[in-house]
Amino acid sequence: MINLTEEQQAVKEAARSFAQNELKPGVIERDSKMQYPKEQVQKMAELGFLGMMTSPEYGGGGMDTLSYVLAMEELSKVDSSCSVIMSVNNSLVCWGLETFGNEEQKQKYLPRLASGEWIGSFCLSEPEAGSDATSQRTTAVDMGDHYILNGTKNWITNGGTSQLHLVIAQTHAEKGHRGINALIVETDWKGVVVGAKEDKLGIRASDTHTIMYNDVKVPKENRIGEDGFGFKFAMKTLSGGRIGIAAQALGIAAGAYELAVAYSKERQSFGKPISQHQIIAFKLADMATDIEAARLLVYRAAMMKDQGLDYTQSAAMAKLFASEVAMRHTIEAVQIHGGYGFVKEYHVERLMRDAKITQIYEGTSEIQRMVISRNVLNGDLYV
Ligand code: CAA
Repeated sequence: MINLTEEQQAVKEAARSFAQNELKPGVIERDSKMQYPKEQVQKMAELGFLGMMTSPEYGGGGMDTLSYVLAMEELSKVDSSCSVIMSVNNSLVCWGLETFGNEEQKQKYLPRLASGEWIGSFCLSEPEAGSDATSQRTTAVDMGDHYILNGTKNWITNGGTSQLHLVIAQTHAEKGHRGINALIVETDWKGVVVGAKEDKLGIRASDTHTIMYNDVKVPKENRIGEDGFGFKFAMKTLSGGRIGIAAQALGIAAGAYELAVAYSKERQSFGKPISQHQIIAFKLADMATDIEAARLLVYRAAMMKDQGLDYTQSAAMAKLFASEVAMRHTIEAVQIHGGYGFVKEYHVERLMRDAKITQIYEGTSEIQRMVISRNVLNGDLYV
């Protein structure tokens, strides 16, 4: 049994109301025009959605992971472009910094990020290092009191709008993944170049860019953790990030399901609402069952994180399952809507397009299977 506390219930309701009343109007146009949701992100900042899990001493909401997941789910029912902006800022950037940064770094950067004054990006993927994340080509050459950063990062969420990047780069190539560092880079520093904006299948209103670093001077005090901790930083942070994306996938599936149920009760065919035809009713039953199973996995991963347990495998399972449920059932929601499902006005085609990215970013479904199977075969490999 998962009984939400009063606070968690209030977060869920506030997020639902915000999504339905403030995100839904305009979501189709923003998607079509690839228009960054500037005003909506500003409102998300005012409502505290951009630093939900950050401690109050650094300007955040001090909430648990389950509250964050509930908010992600509700926003993603409507607008996953907004929820991915929220997710990267919360679970990759703020959480990564608060958990592994030093006191000076936290005091300097977290209040701006958690309040939404600044937005952050997580810069790991490269043109030739996506799933194979240890093969970093970006270099951070140790110059004594600073690093010189050079390289290219791909698919960077918030790439055109963020003020801070957490950049993963290779310092000691001979040490493999143990020679990688994570650096805090301010985007107005000399040599940070924002490349082309991607024209994407889904989450089209979020801004995804290639980023180039050309001889960027990064002070050593901006390295997170010990020399060589960067890869583990990325992996540990991504495990939490995957819970956020799993919640996004759950929201997309649940949003499509809610629309399909409502439509099937209104739409008449052969003299009755289509929900009264068993072929549609059974589709809805399968959707409801899978979504509930995904919800249990996602909430469980969040609760394990909140309880300080090892959640790497649970996060991977939640993301794998929820993203596959999202893809499968958004396709069904389009089918239930028939021709109407194929046009933008009915929202489900957008949810179907948005679902696809949840099987790709923050580790593809294949990577989640890799994490789970290694864990299954080796016991507590990543404790
Ligand atoms: N927690 C802690 N440590 C971990 C870990 C985890 N979850 N996963 C790996 N490690 C450690 C290992 O213990 C190992 O350390 P030691 O050698 O000291 O024991 C080290 O990291 C290397 O691990 P592996 O040998 O397992 O490395 P690998 O190359 O075989 O595979 C991988 C690792 C799981 C496949 C990893 O590369 C991976 O997760 N790839 C996917 C990357 C990814 O998710 N990218 C998403 C981009 S970010 C994004 O999408 C953000 C956005 O903007 C939306």
